[in-house]
Amino acid sequence: MRSHGCGDLRSDLAQDVIGLDVSLCGWVDRRRDHGGVIFIDLRDRSGTVQITVDPDLGAEAFAVAEHLRSETVLQVRGRVRARPAESLNERLATGHIEVLASAITVLNAVKGTLPFPVSVHDEENTREELRLRHRYLDLRRERMNGNLRLRHLTIQTARRFLEEQGFIEVETPVLTRSTPEGARDYLVPSRVCGGEWFALPQSPQLFKQLLMVGGLERYYQVARCFRDEDLRADRQPEFTQLDMEMSFMDQEQILALNEQLICAIWKAVKGIALPQPFPRLTWQEAMDRYGTDRPDTRYGMELVNVSDLVAGMGFKVFSGAVAAGGSVKCIAVPGGNEALSNVRIKPGGDVFSEAQKAGAGGLAFIRVREGGEIDTIGAIKDNLSAEAKAELLERTGAVPGTLLLFGAGDTATVNKALDRVRQFLAKELGLVAADRANAAWNFLWVVDFPMFEFNAGENRLEALHHPFCAPNVADLGSEPAQWAATLPTARAQAYDLVLNGLELGGGSLRIHDSALQRQVLETIGLPLEEANRQFGFLMEALDMGAPPHGGLAFGVDRMVMLLAGEESIRDTIAFPKTQQARCLMTQAPADVSLKQLEELHVASTWTADE
Ligand code: AMO
Repeated sequence: MRSHGCGDLRSDLAQDVIGLDVSLCGWVDRRRDHGGVIFIDLRDRSGTVQITVDPDLGAEAFAVAEHLRSETVLQVRGRVRARPAESLNERLATGHIEVLASAITVLNAVKGTLPFPVSVHDEENTREELRLRHRYLDLRRERMNGNLRLRHLTIQTARRFLEEQGFIEVETPVLTRSTPEGARDYLVPSRVCGGEWFALPQSPQLFKQLLMVGGLERYYQVARCFRDEDLRADRQPEFTQLDMEMSFMDQEQILALNEQLICAIWKAVKGIALPQPFPRLTWQEAMDRYGTDRPDTRYGMELVNVSDLVAGMGFKVFSGAVAAGGSVKCIAVPGGNEALSNVRIKPGGDVFSEAQKAGAGGLAFIRVREGGEIDTIGAIKDNLSAEAKAELLERTGAVPGTLLLFGAGDTATVNKALDRVRQFLAKELGLVAADRANAAWNFLWVVDFPMFEFNAGENRLEALHHPFCAPNVADLGSEPAQWAATLPTARAQAYDLVLNGLELGGGSLRIHDSALQRQVLETIGLPLEEANRQFGFLMEALDMGAPPHGGLAFGVDRMVMLLAGEESIRDTIAFPKTQQARCLMTQAPADVSLKQLEELHVASTWTADE
């Protein structure tokens, strides 16, 4: 039906294409009637080209062109010619030529009204609900089309790289048992085994480990994962992992291989040679300096611990926090005196409310003036010794004009609040380049995560990553009898790759000793019997010659989002769900017939007012 793509008739090839008889297929992007001559911008996935319809040169074609609406599907035959000098369009790749139409065939018409214009010449202002409801139209647009191609290139590059490294792709089951990755499961009732349920995988974690026991040595998969969790711009209920596992490799080798993989992707997709090795921070350093395990290192404003300086002072908010075992930390906002008024820092202000949303009671502040004088509330000023003040300025690097913002309380809350304020201010103060062309790529490995964190709600330890991560042997002690005591505070041989403040991927070395695995499960509160019931198959496999192994999984949607310069992973997924975990196009989830439910031995307890 066609000899060329519309966008293939490019200016740089103009000399070659001029005079060619071509046949093109595509959609009417725009139609303009210039009194006598009609211009059609014809679009396919390769780009757009101008079709010129002159009644003197093709009366039948002109008759068709007169009634064309946007998004009609056409086949156009014609001859390529150079555009006259005055009508060159430098913004279009094909802007030096046009196709003089001799025949136009309508392959399919648009019936009814389009819900939104597909052709975007000005700023996009279509509501996302509408774009998702008619995603097929949205996908026709250059932006989404480009994002999906970028996604394809990303995955293709990863596949090639991993295959060159001896990885083989293996598919793992989607109907499976629950794996504890920390989110709620999507469940599927079994018709055949009444009363029993499959869980959709939150990740292929256990299967990939079992593939290592199965002697595959290097596995990868572009794996669909399902997590029923609160959704955000960077979370979807079903998402894709670039998942891998390897045997007989230590942490250094796994990190090195994955850095090379990332470099190959950035080279192929962005044409950028990333500097190596990627910087590293231990989890503890990341928490101390940024208050988070996924710090954005594109800007400064690091957290500075001043607990020791304020411990003994009369200002009770500070000294009380330290006395209670918490911390006082601050961030120095360069130029903050001018940029941020008191109104914004005090209750009701936008900066204050960021801290508040993270659980903080308030944000104490000090404004540093000329000559090192400070402006702050009396309770701080009157109680800060000259030495403490000098040390404070020295430690925070504050200069005249700097605003110091303080968090005081239990360390976790202080970290959370200042992390949130830091990120908020970076955006407010324009500390990160907004334009895609100048994007900075601040990769960072965060290593040495703790094995566990305390879940106060359930009053128990829970695995920080998942309970299959191997502990650091140095923290564990060689005697199994020591493990119960050493495990709770041990570090894991676990690592995350962070990019510009977003967790791009994570992984670990795994436990390959069943006794240690049982001990870890016991530490998170699974009694032996329950551990055997849920994970007996894993422990059994570990006892049959499991090799040392480890792995990692990247979030493909997030990676593509960052590569494409998008703000949401919804723009990197062909058919995403909304924040309410709904597909607006198919209207899933939807009700099913009573008969289906009966067959599945399921009855609904849902009521409309829930
Ligand atoms: P983890 O839970 O860290 O590790 O997931 C790996 C990566 O997947 C991405 N990700 C998500 N992306 C979109 N929507 C979501 N809801 C979502 N949840 C996670 C993130 C994350 O870094 N089995 C382990 C990996 C391993 O240990 O090998 C795992 O799943 O980018």
